[in-house]
Amino acid sequence: MKLSIASALLLGAGLTAAQTLPITDLVGTWSSKSNSTLTGSGFYNPVDEEFTEPKHPGISYSFSEDGFFEESYYRAVANPSDPRCPKGIIQWQHGSFTKQPNGSLVLVPIAVDGRQLYSDPCNYDSSIYTRYNTSEMFERYSVYQDPYHNITRLDLYKFDGAPLMPLYLAFSPPQMLPTTTLNPLTTAAPGGAKATAKVKRSELPLNHNVMMKRTPEMQRADRWWWFGVFMTGSGAVLYFFF
Ligand SMILES: *[C@@H]1O[C@H](CO)[C@@H](O)[C@H](O)[C@H]1NC(C)=O
Ligand SMILES: *[C@@H]1O[C@H](CO)[C@@H](O)[C@H](O)[C@H]1NC(C)=O
Ligand SMILES: *[C@@H]1O[C@H](CO)[C@@H](O)[C@H](O)[C@H]1NC(C)=O
Ligand SMILES: *[C@@H]1O[C@H](CO)[C@@H](O)[C@H](O)[C@H]1NC(C)=O
Repeated sequence: MKLSIASALLLGAGLTAAQTLPITDLVGTWSSKSNSTLTGSGFYNPVDEEFTEPKHPGISYSFSEDGFFEESYYRAVANPSDPRCPKGIIQWQHGSFTKQPNGSLVLVPIAVDGRQLYSDPCNYDSSIYTRYNTSEMFERYSVYQDPYHNITRLDLYKFDGAPLMPLYLAFSPPQMLPTTTLNPLTTAAPGGAKATAKVKRSELPLNHNVMMKRTPEMQRADRWWWFGVFMTGSGAVLYFFF
């Protein structure tokens, strides 16, 4: 959809000065080739604080017409010293994005909303559930029709110019959770459908260090907060409690 000048001006009024260029080509939900990791409520449920593990590793970004983004990452990290012991990382965050005059995209998350689940089943019985908050900068991007798959494709280039894995349009308009601050951990647990008597929810600490950050480079934190997290039988749904 092309914005008319009038609606573009209207939209522009609510945006920051930096966002002077059209962003409509980015609008939609984009997913890597396996197309099973997607943004939206099928990945992260902020009310129950639970992730649903996708069938295959992958990443997904959504961009809305009014300047919001959401991202889902599900990565398996190979363990060369013991191939039977891969680690898994699930990350989710959302916030607002701007296109800079030089073509860069800047993604600024809502700090209290992002979540990360790190699992290393061979070393720890529990997974580690923390907040996740990392700003991202993409040097540039391009949207075009992929000639091989005949699908609309988005290439994002990291801050250092290296391309991210190709993303393909999965939904338009995008499939996203509410773009406002969610941070449900500050409120009482709703009903406690999955809770047992011992389970108590409360706010995650704000000043934690996450285990893995993607930008500017992957870094390992030397300190983290532990939360009792267990996987249900199949491992398909992950819950936390402490
Ligand atoms: C583009 O602008 C952003 C924000 O002003 C800046 O951080 C980034 O380094 C610039 N990118 C390039 C490639 O100059
Ligand atoms: C979120 O990350 C930004 C830098 O990326 C940092 O300045 C800010 O303090 C962090 N916020 C919280 C609540 O951790
Ligand atoms: C590619 O997809 C478009 C619709 O998205 C269709 O019109 C076109 O025929 C397709 N081309 C090929 C080669 O399949
Ligand atoms: C990706 O998955 C979504 C939801 O299952 C589906 O609607 C879409 O057509 C898929 N896209 C591709 C390129 O397979």
